[in-house]
Amino acid sequence: MKIAVIGTGGQLGTELQDIAAKRTDITWVFAGLEVVDLSKPETISAFVMLEKPSVVINAGAYTSVDKAETDQALALQINGHAVGTLAKACSEVGATLIHISTDYVFNGNNTTPYLTTQATDPVNYYGYSKMIGEQQALAAHATGTAIIRTSWVYSFYGNNFVKTMLRLMGERESLNVVADQQGCPTYAADLAEACVAIATANNFVPGIFHYSNSGAITWHTFAATIGALAGKKCTVHPVPTSAYPTPAKRPAYSVMDLTAITVAYPTVKVYAWEDSLKRCLQQLGALA
Ligand SMILES: NC(=O)c1ccc[n+]([C@@H]2O[C@H](COP(=O)([O-])OP(=O)(O)OC[C@H]3O[C@@H](n4cnc5c(N)ncnc54)[C@H](OP(=O)(O)O)[C@@H]3O)[C@@H](O)[C@H]2O)c1
Repeated sequence: MKIAVIGTGGQLGTELQDIAAKRTDITWVFAGLEVVDLSKPETISAFVMLEKPSVVINAGAYTSVDKAETDQALALQINGHAVGTLAKACSEVGATLIHISTDYVFNGNNTTPYLTTQATDPVNYYGYSKMIGEQQALAAHATGTAIIRTSWVYSFYGNNFVKTMLRLMGERESLNVVADQQGCPTYAADLAEACVAIATANNFVPGIFHYSNSGAITWHTFAATIGALAGKKCTVHPVPTSAYPTPAKRPAYSVMDLTAITVAYPTVKVYAWEDSLKRCLQQLGALA
């Protein structure tokens, strides 16, 4: 089996490289930006045609949620059109595509976890561009694409909420964190493991799936728990979203129902958010 990964330098891409170092039974090809630039469609097709992998995992994306509001053409190219081009190329070489999408395709009006079948209705341009990517991938390669929507991703690698909180809690006596947005964090190591479980499953099941850690919390609870587990003295004050204005609107509620992925892929493991957070803090050397 040959797995090609696009977007190798981010949180998920780097976690996949860690798994690749252990899974030597699989042939891995990691394409950095210098090989596949999702803003340049010709690099996508050329790479897939050359490598002819059995599975492509697309970990590359335009992930600056606020910047996407004003950088719309590039966000749409990378998160939208490029995914259609990639799916078409995968279809041509008989490869399956595992593409990562986001909870931000939803409008946040739910009060119970979003099902994979629920209509999308993004509240910001990043979410819109990712929704277009989902649609284009399914239009180009419906039988060979698995879309994995995830949320609130953090890792030992890259920049993320957990590392920002640890830094700020070391610098300040108190912090304000929004307490009226509910979702669920995802440890990128768990997401990478889930992608590999799907890639190596006996039966490939195409379609849309949700994957995050389990549970439902606010950013405030997440921050307070990071502080408590890391033994930080910093006080975390709950504030409303209105106190922390951002260029891109965020969904108020983006908890996702994880049933579909566990039914289609029984080897995918779902971990409780607090257990995964402890593992990441341990890796960061920050667990008290
Ligand atoms: N982070 C989250 O909270 C979150 C939440 C929901 C869904 N997701 C989705 O999860 C997936 C993985 O996210 P992540 O957190 O690992 O993101 P990340 O750390 O921001 O990594 C994104 C990767 O995409 C690469 N990239 C950017 N522009 C590219 C281009 N034109 N061509 C090829 N690669 C390009 C980046 O390269 P450089 O490092 O060189 O810029 C980086 O390696 C993405 O699809 C994202 O939309 C993330």
